[in-house]
Amino acid sequence: MLVSGKGGVGKTTVAAALARAAVSAGKRVLLAEVELGSENADSPSPLAEFVGARPSGAQVVSVSERLSFVRLSAIEGQRLFLQDILPLRVMADAAMRMRALRRFLEAAPALREMGVLYQMLHLLRLTRPNGQAQHPLCILDLPATGHALALAALPDTLLSVMPGGPIGRSVREGLTLLRDPALTGTVLVTLPEPLPVSETLELATAIGSHGIPLAAGVLNRMPDNPFSPDGRDAVKRLLEAHGPHRGQRALGRLDRARAAQNRLETNFPAPLLTLPDLPATATGLVEQLAAHLVRVSSPPASRESAGAQP
Ligand SMILES: Nc1ncnc2c1ncn2[C@@H]1O[C@H](COP(=O)(O)OP(=O)(O)OP(=O)(O)O)[C@@H](O)[C@H]1O
Ligand SMILES: [Mg+2]
Repeated sequence: MLVSGKGGVGKTTVAAALARAAVSAGKRVLLAEVELGSENADSPSPLAEFVGARPSGAQVVSVSERLSFVRLSAIEGQRLFLQDILPLRVMADAAMRMRALRRFLEAAPALREMGVLYQMLHLLRLTRPNGQAQHPLCILDLPATGHALALAALPDTLLSVMPGGPIGRSVREGLTLLRDPALTGTVLVTLPEPLPVSETLELATAIGSHGIPLAAGVLNRMPDNPFSPDGRDAVKRLLEAHGPHRGQRALGRLDRARAAQNRLETNFPAPLLTLPDLPATATGLVEQLAAHLVRVSSPPASRESAGAQP
């Protein structure tokens, strides 16, 4: 599951909440993020903090019985790739120590992204002794819109320059996985404001044009609406009578948020989940949002049958 969207909309928070919700539904989850460059390999990670994972380079760490965390790294993926194509593991390690090769791999964005994709594929291929996938569900917090698209466009870019050989093979494998709606889904996070909504609709189209399946949209930080339509009009008249006021701004925000929600509901080409804007001081933000996700995603059938109980 790829979590994407513009900067600051809540991707990391939502990715952590989705992981928590899935774990509480009994699933085994690998929560992943992308390390942006070799220089910040040890920089703090909000995602790791949200779930209480200790940083550990590019290795998978176990957070709890069903939750693991990993920071995907281009270098680790490139090393794994060389290891898979070279006859001896030591050759891959030696090659990765060559400054010229490292500089070459770091210079080309497509090769960096290929590294990330390759490490991801490697982790998804791992199996447990009983033959089941080690990581049946992976939730990947993508850095920013540009990166999601770069990752989406990557297979086509690479295949056009190197259609055959080991790179071509692994890219094709990655492509098959990325484009299979039974295996991959993108979750686009957005905010209830006009511009983010426009950008999200464009991103949904762009992702679709690369053949990457869209699983859902998350409208994050929707303000609480305490008013009935009549009550709202009464409050508006009251505020107008008393001149410019913070209350009017709040009402304006509420109206924009509702318009944004309507626009998304009409035009977003996948199911839409709405998450509340919680107070900035809310402790356990991720836990609260996870609880909300569990509530909204419980299947209607089970709710109905629960309601039908005498
Ligand atoms: N539903 C919410 N209610 C209240 N605050 C929220 C909510 N979702 C996210 N936030 C806050 O918004 C800020 C940005 O969230 P987050 O870091 O998850 O965004 P992001 O999209 O991952 O950002 P970046 O693009 O920088 O990676 C954080 O301070 C977070 O606590
Ligand atoms: Mg983030």
